[in-house]
Amino acid sequence: MQTFNFKACAAAVLLPLFSHAAAADDAAPVRIGFMLPATGTYAALGNMIENGFKLYVAEQGGRLGGRTIHYFKVDDESDPSKATENVNKLVKRDQVDVLVGSVHSGVALAMAKVARETNTLLIVPNAGAEAITGAMCAKNIFRTSFTNWQPAFAMGKVAAERGHKKAITITWNYAAGNESAKGFADGFEKSGGKVEKAMNVPFPSVEFQALLTEIAAQKPDAVYAFFAGGGAVKFVKDYVAAGLNKTIPLYGPGFLTDGTLDAQGAAAQGIYTTLHYADNLNTPRDNAFRLAFVKAYKSNADVYAVQGYDAAQLLAAGLKAAGGDLTKRPQMIDAMEKTRIDSPRGSYRMSASHNPVQDIYLRQVRGNVNEVRGTAIKALADPGLGCKM
Ligand code: PHB
Repeated sequence: MQTFNFKACAAAVLLPLFSHAAAADDAAPVRIGFMLPATGTYAALGNMIENGFKLYVAEQGGRLGGRTIHYFKVDDESDPSKATENVNKLVKRDQVDVLVGSVHSGVALAMAKVARETNTLLIVPNAGAEAITGAMCAKNIFRTSFTNWQPAFAMGKVAAERGHKKAITITWNYAAGNESAKGFADGFEKSGGKVEKAMNVPFPSVEFQALLTEIAAQKPDAVYAFFAGGGAVKFVKDYVAAGLNKTIPLYGPGFLTDGTLDAQGAAAQGIYTTLHYADNLNTPRDNAFRLAFVKAYKSNADVYAVQGYDAAQLLAAGLKAAGGDLTKRPQMIDAMEKTRIDSPRGSYRMSASHNPVQDIYLRQVRGNVNEVRGTAIKALADPGLGCKM
């Protein structure tokens, strides 16, 4: 006599219902490779990016597109000469599915090259090197930050509108610094100003004294400086110590004063910068993000935290569209290209070359806050020069 097997029957009925969840549970975690600086002048920036990324994943219950996430990490030391070897540790040794990095443009350019050669998905959460979403652009390469040109061009326009005619730029001599100085000159000269001299020091040197003496002798109307992290702290303090702030206003992209104000203290007061983020946007989205961030990490979010958070949001959009299946690359990419990122900075979409089209705010330092003073340029897209996809 045939007996009724309740267990088998229940399984037969219930399994199809749960098969999707079961498959997602059983699937191996998505392997994320963070290639960020944990040491050197950009160490704090790398930490903020990682924390921002992990905050978004935690808010989704630890899963993106139904898949759990496993993190791998390499300290890239912001050293381009070690970058290819470092990125290969993640791609070849750790077999990551997605690369996230880096802060330094020279390091990120090496990552982009490896990502292209190995067809690994790369999300750049900071480095602004223009080639990444320009000449080197690719279907598998996205950026959730900026190009070096974007905030710089906006600052050039604002500086000219503030009545300055002659400026000097000063920066580290590498892709980010040079592109930032060029972006400033582009905006400044289009609006009637003239950059009289482009100064630089090697990265990551903080020996600014000789150049500050030269600036004092040249007496420009304004100085535009690209420095970030530890170097930005030192530069802003040295500028004040040399007494230059009394006669020559200092401007920069927001990196000059973002995540650095506690250390810069009085020296940073009143400085105007332009960036795709500010500390008091006071939107419900940003307030919720900042509250969650400070609760999780006991420190205030900055632009780097936002860019890391958005890198996770972008990946989530792709994984969701692919049902967590990384082999569905075309569906993933298509969704990542089309999604609007609900960013703490304000919602934005990707350009055709996979770089944010975003508002650039004018900010001014008050206390330990980069306060919004208005929008310098709305929905600014990088020209994406040379990108053919
Ligand atoms: C870069 O190298 O592209 C870079 C580094 C630090 C910043 C911004 C850009 O804050």
